[in-house]
Amino acid sequence: MIKNGIDDGTFFDLARKARRRLPRLFADYIDGGAHGERTLHRNRRAFTQWGVTPRGLRDVSSIDLTTTCFGRTWRLPFFLAPVGFAGMFHAHGEAGAARAASRQSIGMGVSTFSVAAMETVAATNADLMAQIYVMRDRAITRDMLARAKACGMSCMIVTIDTALTPVRERDVRNGFRHLARPTVAQMAGLLKRPAWLSGAITHGGNTVANIDRYTTARGVMAQARDVAAQIDPALDWSDLAWLRDLWNGHLIVKGIMHPDDALRAAERGADGIIVSNHGGRQMDPAPGTLDVLPAIAGAVGERIDIILDGGIRRGGDVVTALALGAKAVSFGRPWAWGLAAHGERGVDAVLDRLEREVRDVMALAGLCDIDAVRTAGRAALWPLG
Ligand code: FNR
Repeated sequence: MIKNGIDDGTFFDLARKARRRLPRLFADYIDGGAHGERTLHRNRRAFTQWGVTPRGLRDVSSIDLTTTCFGRTWRLPFFLAPVGFAGMFHAHGEAGAARAASRQSIGMGVSTFSVAAMETVAATNADLMAQIYVMRDRAITRDMLARAKACGMSCMIVTIDTALTPVRERDVRNGFRHLARPTVAQMAGLLKRPAWLSGAITHGGNTVANIDRYTTARGVMAQARDVAAQIDPALDWSDLAWLRDLWNGHLIVKGIMHPDDALRAAERGADGIIVSNHGGRQMDPAPGTLDVLPAIAGAVGERIDIILDGGIRRGGDVVTALALGAKAVSFGRPWAWGLAAHGERGVDAVLDRLEREVRDVMALAGLCDIDAVRTAGRAALWPLG
């Protein structure tokens, strides 16, 4: 189907297009994972171990996907995960993605590494959640939270799985972190596919805007390197209590992969957790997120909202995650690919397609709303082994 001049393709079509438009350096940055990328693949493989069982003769003339999570109501059971540097993928940048999220009445996490300032993204009136990394200099974190609050954000996502940045083979090969001083070969590669330039120019190209108050006016990549080195590897559970005291909005902990950590987060007052291995970009080898979801849901599912991310690509993946205990899901690469391929209309296409597929699967499984999926649980699924 052609809509807005964009063929309504799958994520995979859009990813192919995005790869043609972006310099390899950025395409690989989006796609790649840590070390041998086993976790990255495991996230997808985990979904292939479950089928959703078709059921007939139930009235499915009306399917309602409304989801309530962290005290907010979304029209659909998914939201845009925080993705760093999205402003470098297309001129529409993070604000374009936020407008797409807003059109669908869903939420979006705004990365610490957003190229557009959170104030710019917030001007779209989308339902935004501020994603933060806790810095060695706590004043930076305090200031980011104050800005988020001033922007009207009532939900903070603290990401806890980045005590360090592991080797990402593709980024090493492409010299991603060293782009601040590009070699002649890198420059030639970037200029061959200049799609990213419009993003870089539109957004000033000079700042990682959410932290620009703390770095000198250097290139985006150089700043990012400096800021990544600022993420505090000494962070521990007492810091979560500190954040809880500091922030009176909803507090979500992203990067939980063990039931004990889920319990600790709940005990320290988190309103929700995101079961996530950062899309396979941090620990390798880690289990897939869907592999660990049932144990985590068993531990805290009654107490706090659980989100799952990592490998969500199809409607069936969303339904499977909800049936295994997630309240909603989020995803990173699909919207990054959509944005890189066609700007905010590409994000629209990704969201439209996913909604359509979720509706298809729920209707054919005889499940009319999100509560019905969660109540059916494993009874809606078939283990494929
Ligand atoms: C990310 N992710 C991420 N997470 C976060 O908390 N802060 C960040 O700045 C980023 N940046 C980022 C950049 C890129 C290019 C990707 C692909 C991912 C992780 C993201 O929020 C989410 O956990 C994963 O993307 C989920 O996996 P999928 O959907 O990409 O398979």
